[in-house]
Amino acid sequence: MEVLQINTIATEPYQGQKPGTSGLRKTVKEFQKPNYTENFVQSIISTVAASAKLDGALLIVGGDGRYYCQDAVRIIAKICAAHKVGKLIIGQNGIFSTPAVSNLIRKTKALGGIILTASHNPGGPNADFGIKYNISNGGPAPDGFTNKIYEYTKTIRAYNMVNNLNVELERLGTQKFLVEGLPFEVEIIDSVADYAALMRELFDFNKIRELLQGTGPHPAPFQVFFDSLHGVTGPYVRRIFCMELSAPESSASNAEPLPDFGGEHPDPNLTYAHKLVEKMKEGIYDFGAAFDGDGDRNMILGKNGFFVTPSDSLAVLAANAHFIPYFQKNGLKGFARSMPTAGAIDRVSESMAKEFFEVPTGWKYFGNLMDAGRLSLCGEESFGTGSDHIREKDGVWTAIAWLSILANKPGESVESIVVDHWTKFGRNFFTRYDYENCEDAGAKAMMDHLNALVKDPALTGKSYADGDKTFTVAKADNFSYKDPVDGSVSENQGIRVVFKDGSRIVFRISGTGSTGSTIRLYGDCYEPDQVKQKMDAGFILKPLINVALAMSKLTHFTGRDAPTVIT
Ligand code: G1P
Ligand code: ZN
Repeated sequence: MEVLQINTIATEPYQGQKPGTSGLRKTVKEFQKPNYTENFVQSIISTVAASAKLDGALLIVGGDGRYYCQDAVRIIAKICAAHKVGKLIIGQNGIFSTPAVSNLIRKTKALGGIILTASHNPGGPNADFGIKYNISNGGPAPDGFTNKIYEYTKTIRAYNMVNNLNVELERLGTQKFLVEGLPFEVEIIDSVADYAALMRELFDFNKIRELLQGTGPHPAPFQVFFDSLHGVTGPYVRRIFCMELSAPESSASNAEPLPDFGGEHPDPNLTYAHKLVEKMKEGIYDFGAAFDGDGDRNMILGKNGFFVTPSDSLAVLAANAHFIPYFQKNGLKGFARSMPTAGAIDRVSESMAKEFFEVPTGWKYFGNLMDAGRLSLCGEESFGTGSDHIREKDGVWTAIAWLSILANKPGESVESIVVDHWTKFGRNFFTRYDYENCEDAGAKAMMDHLNALVKDPALTGKSYADGDKTFTVAKADNFSYKDPVDGSVSENQGIRVVFKDGSRIVFRISGTGSTGSTIRLYGDCYEPDQVKQKMDAGFILKPLINVALAMSKLTHFTGRDAPTVIT
């Protein structure tokens, strides 16, 4: 076997390689700059090496198939080979969904994993790319870890790689190398098999098959439709829903992963997954789901396009978790949601007397609670739901979880389950306005203004009116979170104003955008009245949003008079 040499290459630091909510996300063009990707990967590896034994270690590598994924995988392999990493497990053609990587890290007891994705951001040579490190519990690296990566990127002067390492990403099986006398191995595996096996363990596939086929207690076949938005989930949908659960092939749409996602935003919401909404409005299908680029997000729809908000989806899953075999077996620990997520789950948690956590935005905050055995089920308003079966949110899992519940309620629909839920617990109306790519200075000035406002004790008790609605401030702050497991504190996690009637507004700057500043404005209110529960969410929330806009002077600071996306 040819003995490969390690090459040391001089480099200069790049500004701004600071990982955000979920890894480093920048434009592809940025990642293609000389040494840009190499610098960041070397900084990850240096950080890992500083805290664990890298010699002979196993790492998992894969991504959502977007443009530049395979180039990045090759760079990672070359750099890992130069740092005595023992083995990489890589998805065929460099493809793994984010939940699949999380599962594999746990299953193989790997030291960690590197995921190539910019999640729901567009892909292609003129769009976005991203690199994220997950630790040995399968979850995204915590702030302390990513801060260290950032520190390395600021001082890096050289990186080590094995220039001549050529990995064949399409060939399944093990490829062995010798690097300056030490063995280095790459195993290319089927991207779906391990994840599908996990789903079979968690759920009762026979029962779901009966639902889809209209056998057993079910009056008719339950028609399902999945939109993978040309992201990574296509092969997962085909294998799990079509091959194993017997949904027809035609129910898997946009199931070919494309490097540019067909030129669209692979983001499962009412704006970007509008084709699924239109399909569902035809009234043929009983259940629809869309997933994002890397497969961790989901949107759930019922017949005629009935939209389940992510906050409601989480609450319904929690209230019906006893139908899911995994929870039957392992018991239900606590529940959690991110701070801006509407409080529908809070009441379910209370009714079941479960421990409950409100954490900052970003899945990484759930991991410690899960590892400590205190959290079973959690979610975010940004179309993320999941459980402690892995340490990432999980789009396909959520769709199977919904089908499990439906399989246990013969004759019921998505809508009837949600409406029953509102009748029992009340309804939370929720909306999010995104102002994408604002100028940094304006966004910062607005947040400074809001920070000053919520610090002023005179704000409490102050009233704001819109039309005939008046909102009186009960409490306002910039959210800070103390992790109950490790005691770490995360400050400045979003401005929140809570009004006397329980409604809330939240402002924060996105940590995942690749250019400029994206302002997110969240509004939620609670409605116990069954007549009002049936009303349009946009209509109900309008006065609250108007008050938020007045308080923040958003238009004044940013020049924007309308959001770019409403979810
Ligand atoms: C967004 C979402 C957040 C999610 C993250 C990664 O982050 O708001 O809930 O965890 O993407 O999918 P943001 O851009 O708001 O920082
Ligand atoms: Zn994602």
